[in-house]
Amino acid sequence: MHEDTPEITELVLKAAQKARKETSSEPEPDLTQPLHWPINCTVGPGLEGAIACESKIGYVNGAKGWLIYCGYDIFDLCAHSTFEEVSYLLLHGRLPTELQLRRFTAKLRRYRHVPQTLRRVMSFPIEEMNTMAALRLCTNMMRQEFTKRDLEASRPALRDAVYSDEDSIPMETVPTGEEHAIYEFERKRRAQRTPDGASDLESCYHLIAGVATFAAAIARIRSGAMPLEPDPELSHAANYLYMITGKRPTPQEERVMDIALILHADHGMNASTFAAMVVASTLSDIYFSVGSGIAALNGPIHGGANERALRMLHEIGHRDNVEAWFKKARTQKRKIMGFGHRVYKAYDPRARVLAPLAKYLARKNKEVLPLFQTAKKLEKVAVAELGKNKGIFPNVDFFSGLVYRCMDIPPALFTPTFAVARVAGWAGRVLEYLQHNRIFRPRAMYTGHFNKTYADIAGRRKK
Ligand code: COA
Repeated sequence: MHEDTPEITELVLKAAQKARKETSSEPEPDLTQPLHWPINCTVGPGLEGAIACESKIGYVNGAKGWLIYCGYDIFDLCAHSTFEEVSYLLLHGRLPTELQLRRFTAKLRRYRHVPQTLRRVMSFPIEEMNTMAALRLCTNMMRQEFTKRDLEASRPALRDAVYSDEDSIPMETVPTGEEHAIYEFERKRRAQRTPDGASDLESCYHLIAGVATFAAAIARIRSGAMPLEPDPELSHAANYLYMITGKRPTPQEERVMDIALILHADHGMNASTFAAMVVASTLSDIYFSVGSGIAALNGPIHGGANERALRMLHEIGHRDNVEAWFKKARTQKRKIMGFGHRVYKAYDPRARVLAPLAKYLARKNKEVLPLFQTAKKLEKVAVAELGKNKGIFPNVDFFSGLVYRCMDIPPALFTPTFAVARVAGWAGRVLEYLQHNRIFRPRAMYTGHFNKTYADIAGRRKK
């Protein structure tokens, strides 16, 4: 694979070599064993540290800078695989055979073509909408295509559901997490709902293919152009670029886009993945789940930092201004966009891959080259102060905006592009979770009052 872009494979392999030299390869048995529920774990606000389920889909080791999908190192997937293969891997837990890949890509080709739904979508004021709101609307319209989902016969049987209240921890239980805790419900029932029902899987294929078509269409409509039909001869990454720009990408652009999609496809139980899983756990459907993933990703502290990182590089203006700008930013306690990560306290492996790819594309791009040079200088200055001491390094968003700009993706489409990739992870994790579904139902500690006397509205005083 990838015979026509050996120089890009080489860049990825070099990044991998550097990462492997700088990080330990010791596995962490304590964090990678099946659990014996119930478990005790330290939980912070926002469920930080809580373990909600087991998963074979992805592993992130923030201290070492590892990212693994179904056992495969992210560097190997970027060097040798494609987004189509990786999507299949996330959905099925194994890489496809040649025949399976052929069938899967044929499905994607079919589902990428959504003329009727696109026509319906165009009756909405897409050009005036937030791009993520528009994309979410599109997933609702895609759901309409599969209207059989709303027929009673295709709804999940209620006997398959484990209700939230019949066996959850009573609210009065002191949260020590020990005796007679949660897991006393009927395990037999859990096993009945399998994710292999064709309709669930088919909808995942439909979404992986369709979200890209709609994201590209949103970009076209916003720029006053008509959406383009997908080209059946192009790969997923090449089609995405083609449907945005109207130009067939070069093999190099296609490859870089493909790698960017692979890098963003999954990342543990992040907020949008969790949102998608929470919705799925109610036995709602995958369209609603993906819609919630999109909604969560829209938040500025989740998706979208790459757009702000790019703005920051514009603000710095030139690499010679970096030191003074950084000094001022530190005194103002300003955060450096595209730096730091909740999980990674080592160099983010995705940034390791994207940095040389940004350089590769920026060499020939007069507009982006000075921004890239500014970014590299900022990386050096910021890592020297924040790296070793605080574990703050560039994250995936530091270089991805530069990569996308080189390929003429408008900044308003950066977060939808994240969704185009992450839909594979959302779908894979939802399918996996449904195999042992349990409706999500954490608790909140009530810290309010008791025994208040109800006062009639006329007698209430303003506080
Ligand atoms: N620039 C400068 N300092 C940063 C920083 C950044 N990008 N990110 C974190 N820090 C500092 C904080 O100021 C804080 O310092 P203090 O201990 O002196 O108060 C310390 O590191 C911890 O910050 P906190 O925000 O609590 O860390 P976190 O691990 O929860 O944050 C992020 C993770 C991603 C929210 C944070 O790094 C951030 O806001 N980064 C910029 C936005 C971004 O790039 N987001 C994309 C993430 S993929």
